[in-house]
Amino acid sequence: MNSVRDWAAPNPVTENRQGIIGKPVDRYEGPLKVTGSAPYAYEVQPPSPPAYGVMIPAAIPRGRVSRVDVTAAEAAPGVKLAWTHLNAPAQQDPPPDAPFLAPVARPALRSDRVMHFGQPVALVVADTLENAQAAAHLVEIAYETEPAEVDFAAAAPHATNPPGEPDVRMGDFETAFEAAPVRLDETWDTPIQIHCQMEPHATLAWWEDGKCVVHTSAQMVRLTQTGLANTLGIDRDDVLLRSRYVGGGFGGKGPFYEDLVLAALASRELGQPVKIAFSRQHMFHGTCHRPATSQRVRLAAGPDGRLTGMSMITVTHTDREGKFWERASNFSRSLYAAPNRLTGHRLVRLDLPMAGAMRAPGEASGMLSLECAMDELAERLGLDPLELRLRNEPDVDPETGKPFSIRQLTRCMREGAQMFGWDRRSPKPGQVRDGRWLVGMGMASAIRGNMLLPAKATFSLDVSGVVTVRQGMTDIGTGSYTVLAQIAAETVGVPLEDVRVEIGDSEFAPTPGSGGQFGAATAGSAAFAAGMNLRKAIGELGTGDPGSPLHGADPEQVTILGGVVAVGNRSERLAALIARAAPEGLTVEGEINPPSDMRDWSQHTYGAHFVEVAVDPVTGETRVRRMLGVFAAGRILNRKTARSQLTGGMIWGVSHALHDGAAVDPRYGSFVNPDLAQYMVPVQADIGELEAIMLDEADDKANPMGIKGVGELGIAGSGSAVANAIYNACGARIRDYPITPEKVMAAMMAQGL
Ligand code: MOS
Repeated sequence: MNSVRDWAAPNPVTENRQGIIGKPVDRYEGPLKVTGSAPYAYEVQPPSPPAYGVMIPAAIPRGRVSRVDVTAAEAAPGVKLAWTHLNAPAQQDPPPDAPFLAPVARPALRSDRVMHFGQPVALVVADTLENAQAAAHLVEIAYETEPAEVDFAAAAPHATNPPGEPDVRMGDFETAFEAAPVRLDETWDTPIQIHCQMEPHATLAWWEDGKCVVHTSAQMVRLTQTGLANTLGIDRDDVLLRSRYVGGGFGGKGPFYEDLVLAALASRELGQPVKIAFSRQHMFHGTCHRPATSQRVRLAAGPDGRLTGMSMITVTHTDREGKFWERASNFSRSLYAAPNRLTGHRLVRLDLPMAGAMRAPGEASGMLSLECAMDELAERLGLDPLELRLRNEPDVDPETGKPFSIRQLTRCMREGAQMFGWDRRSPKPGQVRDGRWLVGMGMASAIRGNMLLPAKATFSLDVSGVVTVRQGMTDIGTGSYTVLAQIAAETVGVPLEDVRVEIGDSEFAPTPGSGGQFGAATAGSAAFAAGMNLRKAIGELGTGDPGSPLHGADPEQVTILGGVVAVGNRSERLAALIARAAPEGLTVEGEINPPSDMRDWSQHTYGAHFVEVAVDPVTGETRVRRMLGVFAAGRILNRKTARSQLTGGMIWGVSHALHDGAAVDPRYGSFVNPDLAQYMVPVQADIGELEAIMLDEADDKANPMGIKGVGELGIAGSGSAVANAIYNACGARIRDYPITPEKVMAAMMAQGL
């Protein structure tokens, strides 16, 4: 397939004759998870008893380890080794200027340099976890501290454009802004946010016949395998990487960390399996976080509400040598029409832990400003915020001029408004009371890009008619296992029960893994291709087999449904055919390579959020009563797992509005709230009624199945709808997230509310 246009032809998935595509089937691995038999990396049974490693985090933001003494630790009960930069094994260095998320070396305990608080500076391995933890306390470390810059607010005024990323200008924004009758110029701030995956970053490693076997918690099998091999200086094929079940990734498990490298090295040294996990507190500092942002939005509009100018400039930070920054202004380039535009980013470097990707990098932070700015502008114009958005809906991508592959944003808004009862919203804040509560409604748009990357898949059909899918794909809680089974069943034409899925293994056909909400479309499209190849092979087998009732028929005419192979009224069971004609089974491969003309279309997923909150005017507490998201994200593979993804994102948006945020301790460049007792996230009682609706859609410019991603769409814009609802409830506009009760109280008092 070298053109997007080839995807318009009907195929088994778009025809869905078995009805398996879209069906809300239960999770494939659900029974394993609820019975505790789907082990995470740390829980896998190694071939012999493991040793346990504990990493020691640096206690300073910047400087060097000036003295370290492991003598007492080495003499402690059960200790097998104690490593620092002085005695850690040799490793390779990464090439200079490798981008974020590159499959390059990431050596551990490399030198005496400390680049951030929490950087592992020593490793102790012992026969038990308790002995390793006890011995870790006996390692004596002295530091030479250097001045560190960890205060984003203080550094932000000195920010400059990120390397190679000039502002994007269209028309003349400044002139349009000056001339506009209605203007808005406000700044929104978002804090550092932490992934807090349920399963920590963890690795179990051992060596077998000169090969390194690692079970680790990673989103990307091939990248992590290659990165580890490069770190160790061995062939990629000498790393057998397994990541079968992952307890949450959210972008934080895109990169790999010292648990992986040190477990591999220590198990080689000891000739024994070694397990290393980050503690919860260490995860906060030793793995990546979403950096803070400060976003200035300027809008210029005519009295009719049409935008004449739009500008969004995001200031953010990354670590000293960091290659990631939050591109929070990017989404605004495709959202609303405005002839004069200015968008871009500013970056400062801080001596903080690693800045990295977190669920919907860019949109999740960025929509928190623009979607509230639109709410404020609507009020200034005396327009309903939904109507303002409708008036600024572009016909083509406003920056590239490219046609949209499909864009049902206005349909999401209109249908959502009707389902939610948006017409009952009072345009004036502070008007609706329920007992002591002030009640309000808010809405926001959602947009998140869609991607397709190269991937491969292998399908095997065994003698009993069972199809096994094998891919170096991961399931980070999203439902990859389940949707791959559905794609395989519908594409080949067998019942769902006749499909096995094996993923999370570097020996399987490579895929980019899970991230950027590209997982289902990318791995799934490769699986689809393999399924089509298997269909073809089955057709040729049947029509070419003298023992088959299909013998002599045109292979092109073969249909397979419910495990029955047929041409016209001649048919036989797939299991019977394979047992007779290919008892050794059939194995085929498939792959997807995005055609170059995919770039001729502007391609995104869309949604509209509607939220009702109640604000207690006495305490400033916000309660989310109702949330509705209506989404257009291509053909939905599984209405249950997709809904979970979308509602999960929406809940996280509530967290962005009300809870999420790490506070930096200026003395140490550490986070003062580094655990789930102190880092606020929503719990069940924080979320009221919650629904995610998925519109019927197929995007035939996305891939042969017309599917897109949903993993990141739900979080985009969700928090803005909460913030807008708070304003509508009580008249408090708070542009500094999270919107805590103290801030609501202060804003209400300042305005005499
Ligand atoms: Mo995602 S934040 O690209 O896993």
